[in-house]
Amino acid sequence: IKKIAVLTSGGDSPGMNAAIRSVVRTCAYYKIECLGVYRGYQGLIEADFKEMGPRGVNNIINKGGTILKSARSLEFKTTEGRQKAHTNLVQSEVDALVVIGGDGTFTGGLLFNTEFNFPIIGIPGTIDNDIFGTSHTIGYDTALNTVVEVIDKIRDTASSHNRLFFVEVMGRDAGHIALNAGIGAGAEEILIPEENLGLDRLLESLQKSKASGKSSSIVVIAEGDKIGKNVFELKDYVEANMPEYDVRVSVLGHMQRGGAPSCFDRVLASRLGVKAVESLLEGKTNYMVGLQNDKVNLTPLEQAIKGKSEIDSELLRVSDIMST
Ligand code: F6P
Repeated sequence: IKKIAVLTSGGDSPGMNAAIRSVVRTCAYYKIECLGVYRGYQGLIEADFKEMGPRGVNNIINKGGTILKSARSLEFKTTEGRQKAHTNLVQSEVDALVVIGGDGTFTGGLLFNTEFNFPIIGIPGTIDNDIFGTSHTIGYDTALNTVVEVIDKIRDTASSHNRLFFVEVMGRDAGHIALNAGIGAGAEEILIPEENLGLDRLLESLQKSKASGKSSSIVVIAEGDKIGKNVFELKDYVEANMPEYDVRVSVLGHMQRGGAPSCFDRVLASRLGVKAVESLLEGKTNYMVGLQNDKVNLTPLEQAIKGKSEIDSELLRVSDIMST
């Protein structure tokens, strides 16, 4: 392998730049060339490439977003699109690809490998932490810290006004952000898709909390929650059943994807970038690099896509006990 291309795809996450930097510098360390691809798979199709050297990634370890930009390419889902991408890579003499993103990114990469036998390694970059084979995806830790910081602020006003707040957080179909940030921010209840609390138990819990002397409360709700009502309908439902509550809703949205990456995410991204390039140099393909028991390891891309990153039942128990 003499030349590796790197791209970021799907929803961006804090720490993607640190991962790009790591891939670029590891290539330089092993004296191989590195090509940056702009706008994910769309940039492969349009040959939107840039040669990248170790000095080109100075001063980005601390930056949120991705200097390579990101996209969700519809054209790459077509055979013609992938054919164009392959032609461009061959023309630019690229031997292997590092893709940074979530399961959509890995699905595209795996398909590309199956069709063209093109070596590929995935690095998990998403705030959702919904990838099997790694305890942490790049950006997740930063998103947790962002959410906790914001809920701390919401708590101030909730408590001044004796209000109940529903705070909706991201995570797509997974409840990792909600559960961990909820515990970290001291939420009264945490609603996640993996465990449907049910409307009755939610009301019961809020009633209990009121009776126990709490005058304000924070309920964290994952955007993919399956309670059957969206966060605004939930507010109306609780107000209708518990008029004593003054309820407000705060949907945190895309701010959860921004900001400077935490130290944890920077270190994780640096480790995974090194492992990605070294794995390609060892002739490996179709793997995702990840972290398990604080050790960097490899998981077949197919498993990473199909497997489920489970919710830790101990955390559910802790959250229950903490709302006493
Ligand atoms: O996968 C990251 C994520 O931020 C999810 O948490 C969220 O559901 C989705 O992306 C939002 O996507 P978009 O940026 O396209 O609105």
